[in-house]
Amino acid sequence: MNAPEALPLKAPAAGVSRAHESARAQVAGAAPYIDDIPEVRGTLHAAPVCSPVAHGRLLGVDTSAALALPGVRGFVGAEQIPGDPVLAAFAHDEPVFARDTVQFMGQVIGLIVADDVMTARRAARLVKPRIEALPPVLTVHEAHEQRSYVLPPVHVARGDAQAALRRAKHVLEGGFEVGGQEHFYLEGQVAYVLPLEQNQWWVYSSTQHPGEVQHWVSHALGIANHAVTVECRRMGGGFGGKETQAGHLAVWAAVAANHLGRPVKLRLDRDDDFMITGKRHPFAYQYRVGFGDDGRLCGLQLQMLVNCGFSADLSGPVADRAIFHCDNAYFLEDVAVDSFRCKTNTQSHTAFRGFGGPQGVIAIERILGDIARHLGLDPLQVRLRNLYGIGERDLTHYDMRVEDNILEPLLTTLAQTSRYAERRAAIDAFNARSPVIKKGMALTPVKFGISFTATLFNQAGALVHVYTDGSVMVNHGGTEMGQGLNTKVAQIVADELGVPCERVLCTAADTSKVPNASATAASSGTDLNGRAAQFAARHVRDNLAAFVAGLDGCGAGAVRFAHGEIHTPKTTRRFEDVVGAAYANRIQLWSDGFYRTPKIHYDKTTMKGRPFYYFAYGAACSEVAIDTLTGESRVLAVDILHDVGHSINPALDIGQIEGGFVQGMGWLTTEQLVWNAQGRLQTHAPSTYKIPTAGDLPPHWRVDLWPEANREDNVHGSKAVGEPPFMLAISVYEALRDAVARAGGRPEAMDAPATAEEVLKALGG
Ligand code: MTE
Ligand code: HPA
Ligand code: MOS
Repeated sequence: MNAPEALPLKAPAAGVSRAHESARAQVAGAAPYIDDIPEVRGTLHAAPVCSPVAHGRLLGVDTSAALALPGVRGFVGAEQIPGDPVLAAFAHDEPVFARDTVQFMGQVIGLIVADDVMTARRAARLVKPRIEALPPVLTVHEAHEQRSYVLPPVHVARGDAQAALRRAKHVLEGGFEVGGQEHFYLEGQVAYVLPLEQNQWWVYSSTQHPGEVQHWVSHALGIANHAVTVECRRMGGGFGGKETQAGHLAVWAAVAANHLGRPVKLRLDRDDDFMITGKRHPFAYQYRVGFGDDGRLCGLQLQMLVNCGFSADLSGPVADRAIFHCDNAYFLEDVAVDSFRCKTNTQSHTAFRGFGGPQGVIAIERILGDIARHLGLDPLQVRLRNLYGIGERDLTHYDMRVEDNILEPLLTTLAQTSRYAERRAAIDAFNARSPVIKKGMALTPVKFGISFTATLFNQAGALVHVYTDGSVMVNHGGTEMGQGLNTKVAQIVADELGVPCERVLCTAADTSKVPNASATAASSGTDLNGRAAQFAARHVRDNLAAFVAGLDGCGAGAVRFAHGEIHTPKTTRRFEDVVGAAYANRIQLWSDGFYRTPKIHYDKTTMKGRPFYYFAYGAACSEVAIDTLTGESRVLAVDILHDVGHSINPALDIGQIEGGFVQGMGWLTTEQLVWNAQGRLQTHAPSTYKIPTAGDLPPHWRVDLWPEANREDNVHGSKAVGEPPFMLAISVYEALRDAVARAGGRPEAMDAPATAEEVLKALGG
């Protein structure tokens, strides 16, 4: 990668690969995370006391043994909450600390606070909650039978699926399940709360949504939002797991800090993080699908049972996004989707990269794979035949027209560059002579809707300050979690002011700078905050242009900003010289910027409208091998063609594509969450929960970017990239099912994740 200092000054800042703004500091261990912040004198440490049963009546808590331990300062539970004991989550269905009942194994009943973290953790284990156990609901099937839901069911239909199914030449029906996923951010959940003065609070939180943390903390403390400031410089990964879950820790630590009048830090250890925090929603599906001899769909009935855990959290919009994405890239003419938001006695499942989208996409990809095998057709042919059309067959089941469709050229390009047909033949030949190892391949598309489905969240603000030395500071509502948001925003602002990127510094997300910011989520961080920052920079530039135009007697439109200089038809001046002169002439050198996404609207009650500003597209072709004796598998080769519009930073975008793909691979292959019959999560550490490692990367792995700009007016012609590539990994899952089929097994019997056991099961082993 180019060192920034080696970049020619003439290169525009945006559209160029640049190292992540913190890359060097991170590898040098010089980029602080919250647990690295020097502790203020008097800081206490907290550890959670968790429910040991999945469901029960909470009769009391015996803290005597814990409190007797030297160094322990106290126990903090529901009684110590000065404000509302119910969290300010949107459904208002979650207690801050369990009261009266416990609803999953791991639910936090209170905290032990001590002088040091190990004492707190040791003491927390000595707390004895008195609980009268009640029968838990552990599966979506039990929940659905008992009508146990966190939110009402949602039904979306277009056309007449039943009539279409009656007409259809062929009908298939089936059911399958797809597992959840632990976020496994490298930096675990952490909050550090400091009392300021007069019941005002400073909160360091590893959060994707500082504004929500501020809101929740002030709600629990019974004080105004302005009395709480939340700061997040960076996260060591969030992946959706810090969209709401970070708020719990901050509220817990704040209640403890308030009760004891001391700074309190709460950092979960990995096992507790697994046991307490929500994960990707596991789904169970039932479907009936009709189709013709050519594999064209003709009627689909799809039921999705969504395992939400014990509370609503973000399950409503997650389950909605699964509905919005159960078409993936395909025109579903007559379709009926029933989505049940099941309440179980498990962790409250939450946002995770794709936000329900992957659970929607995998359903239709599985169905199309099974249709192709049923008809003896190539799955890619069946997929191509069902793609959205251009000017026809282009209306989604939620009434949004697909106007920016590049699916057909994108898929056929990838089929060529990956040599799909040739390799199919080679795989057949290989399988014919290989009795034990069998190969499979699949090429699957992604179409992902960009915007928060809750229209109101699609707004952002930013501040741009230009100091008198010409250096630029940006603060925007987004958070940095490794995705490179701050790098991209700095590039955008640098171009707007015509200065090199090194002049621009993005500072920590801070609720006292930009208020009411949305979560950095829905892949929209750069779209929203990048534009807001661009507008803020533009205001400053306009002030400078007017000033220079006045000096040179030209129109402000004739002033150009580039290469760290400001040019008029008469003169060229250094940016910092103009800034200094402008300051002396009392010109405003800082500004705000505000952006809201245009065109989107959507009726929540009917689920119809245009929830998304645009779609991001991609496709992946994956080749795998399975060992038919052990069920083990390997990904051998992956070719990806992905659409990021005009990339603001190709190196970062390719990093997101690779990272998203591998994370998706983990979800569908090795990452298995196992709850036992008592509702205990058994896989709560890296010893039993297996994320992909460097050794699992495909030996052949090619990532190309689609060369076209976003057809909608988005910042620099770019497209969002954070989540869409996650679903490219469905090609791995479909390739594994292809291999199982070629080995004579029953791919329709293979649930996800396709662990070795699951592959063996599908092989009849
Ligand atoms: N990349 C890294 N390195 N770390 C993360 O936590 N989160 C993903 C994605 N890429 C994540 C990441 C998720 S879930 C989302 S929604 C987006 O980044 C959020 O950032 P963006 O909107 O700026 O792309
Ligand atoms: N995506 C991600 N996070 C969200 C969304 C969404 O659509 N809505 C609310 N939080
Ligand atoms: Mo991402 S799941 O929208 O934080």
